[in-house]
Amino acid sequence: MRIISSIREMQGLVNGVIRTGKRISLVPTMGALHEGHINLINEGRNRGDVLVVSIFVNPTQFGLSEDFTKYPRDLEGDLSKIEDLGVDIVFAPNLEEIYPEGFQTYVEVKDLQEHLCGHFRPGHFRGVATVVLKLFNIVKPQVALFGEKDYQQLKIIQRMVKDLNLEVEVIGYPIVREKDGLALSSRNVYLLMNERNSASQVSKALREIKRKFDMGCRNTNLMVEFGKKILEETGINDIDYLEICDPETLESKELAGRGDLLAVAVRIKGTRLIDNIRL
Ligand code: PAF
Repeated sequence: MRIISSIREMQGLVNGVIRTGKRISLVPTMGALHEGHINLINEGRNRGDVLVVSIFVNPTQFGLSEDFTKYPRDLEGDLSKIEDLGVDIVFAPNLEEIYPEGFQTYVEVKDLQEHLCGHFRPGHFRGVATVVLKLFNIVKPQVALFGEKDYQQLKIIQRMVKDLNLEVEVIGYPIVREKDGLALSSRNVYLLMNERNSASQVSKALREIKRKFDMGCRNTNLMVEFGKKILEETGINDIDYLEICDPETLESKELAGRGDLLAVAVRIKGTRLIDNIRL
């Protein structure tokens, strides 16, 4: 497993790989790796000949009042978690390498970024799209893997790839959950014991809403109110959104249909958690 921090070195290496006709797969991460990332890495290994994992906590996707400075960072720990997984290259650049002085070019995926998390995290998806495009240009993968927990992020990246004619296949991989249903996230480490218990109610609310849908309910207002009650009963009052929306356009719906996206974002003390399921 080679650890590379320089863009020039990374590009030199992948140019050589591409000349030999090998397929490069990329798993982009911000580190603090968990089982969800490990699944992406295992899938990435099956889908390419040379597997690259990037680790970079991207400042442009954090708002001013968000957790950029306290975001968990543990490069040594991350490297030891993945050393036996067949990763060929870890690309771990520093801040100045990705955003040198004078940097001023950004990518925006206009409509998709307006929904769900976009309302609550202005600029977030612009930062994500920009850094992912940069990573694609640096690593030149044929395939890139992302978790479906960040469903809106996945859709935005797929749209960017289509709109900008990038030659990379973007694959979403199902959410990995704890036994009690909590979606794995690097931010779960922020949760104290009692907060961790409330957090498990987030996925429970989604499952209960889906049960209502499976029993024939189609009125999204009713289902959302029902879900909010479940959250509020466990002390989760800070709900950014709980929404049923079209899985492609992410537009909110009044009548739910099979396959629609049910997505939620809540804050438990300072920790923001997101989750989703398909109806
Ligand atoms: O999902 C993440 O970890 C990040 O948003 C990503 C895709 C690595 C971009 O910084």
